[in-house]
Amino acid sequence: SRSISLAVIPGDGIGQEVVAEGLKVLGAVLPSDVKLETTSYDFGARRYHATGETLTDADLESLKRHDAILLGAIGDPSVPSGVLERGFLLKLRFAFDHHVNLRPSTLLPGVASPLAGDPEIDFVVVREGTEGPYTGNGGAIRTGTPHEVATEVSLNTAYGIERVVRDAYARAQARPRRKLTLVHKNNVLVHAGHLWKRIFDAVGTEYPDVTTDYLHVDAATIFFVTQPERFDVIVTDNLFGDIITDLAAAVTGGIGLAASGNINPSRAFPSMFEPVHGSAPDIAGQGKADPTATVRSVALLLEHLGYQDEAARIEAAVAADVAARGTAPRSTGAIGDALAARVAS
Ligand code: IPM
Ligand code: MN
Repeated sequence: SRSISLAVIPGDGIGQEVVAEGLKVLGAVLPSDVKLETTSYDFGARRYHATGETLTDADLESLKRHDAILLGAIGDPSVPSGVLERGFLLKLRFAFDHHVNLRPSTLLPGVASPLAGDPEIDFVVVREGTEGPYTGNGGAIRTGTPHEVATEVSLNTAYGIERVVRDAYARAQARPRRKLTLVHKNNVLVHAGHLWKRIFDAVGTEYPDVTTDYLHVDAATIFFVTQPERFDVIVTDNLFGDIITDLAAAVTGGIGLAASGNINPSRAFPSMFEPVHGSAPDIAGQGKADPTATVRSVALLLEHLGYQDEAARIEAAVAADVAARGTAPRSTGAIGDALAARVAS
């Protein structure tokens, strides 16, 4: 019989609330012959304050034993900026080699976009997840003096670029429009930019049926707003991907709907699925957070584990739910209940 061993990290703020709803929908969509085993972990601000720890080697060993990880959100104003981001989130992405940071963006019927008209938006960003300026490669000297110098060196390896570019081509090939756009800034960042472009072009020869395009990241932000229908699959580096996926979320209904997967396609380590949004401490504990991004992250998780039908049912439930959404606010739990009811029927 089939089974899923899931590590659950609710984390901080609204993370707790949205993960509860994600699990509710997961329980409702899974066929009864699939045995779901969950282990909850208390990572985040509280544990940091209590123990000074963010993520230990023993934690990683323990997490490693699962098929996948569901994360709510990590971060709290009581913890200095960067401690949990670097010490937990990025540490986990790096330790488990989550090099494909997958962020789909679809403007669903019924969702209000801040863009004029009803643009067709249906693209997915494949953001590199383990390199770029995120590696902590840099430093500061003469700190606190007028002559202070700080660097953040962007790390780009041929190996790291090729594997994520290849993944993006494969995803583009599997979609009806078969189009892949490389987003970078190779008119200025010539060293990394040209490496990306060369590898992008070389791998492209293996995918003759995929149409390719290149955009500088600044131009890409214009097209996200003026012509989002031109995008199908986008591949880009870690930092550009971080920035443009927040914009992508904003034009498709906001971060309350935006899901993501931190994927290691080799399955050597568990992949991690999380909403793009953060812990939103200002609304935590009030039942105001929209759990839809987490529920959609559960769909990405199921897809990754081979449960395509169940993932599609969640996406269909989300589409139906947002189409039926009125203007009356619903609680976190009410949205979760509605989605769970839809996937079960
Ligand atoms: C995200 C977040 C993280 C990132 C931060 C919190 C480290 O913004 O998942 O997009 O920059 O990757
Ligand atoms: Mn981000």
